[in-house]
Amino acid sequence: MVKLVVTNRVGATVEVDAFTGISMMENIRELDDSVDAICGGMCSCATCHVFIEPSLWDSLPERGYEELMLLKDLESFDPERSRLSCQIEVTGDHDGIALKVGPEE
Ligand code: FES
Repeated sequence: MVKLVVTNRVGATVEVDAFTGISMMENIRELDDSVDAICGGMCSCATCHVFIEPSLWDSLPERGYEELMLLKDLESFDPERSRLSCQIEVTGDHDGIALKVGPEE
């Protein structure tokens, strides 16, 4: 288990005990005011949008083409910080990583 530091849609920050080997989305979707993840992690809805500071990206997998195309359709897309949380598998390298849930669109 690792800790994720999650700021939800209303600005509250909580520490989450996260399981490794499953996605960031699966670890945070049950929190209050968190991601909707309507497609269940199939990379087709972008409702699992989160912001992660660029300085923390070293431990993340590359942003894939499909992920980027979905993100670019969002009004809140930030080229420097936007990720789909369903496309990030949590590993031991993510202990303490901070993320902010994207706005509802
Ligand atoms: S849960 Fe739908 S794109 Fe991530």
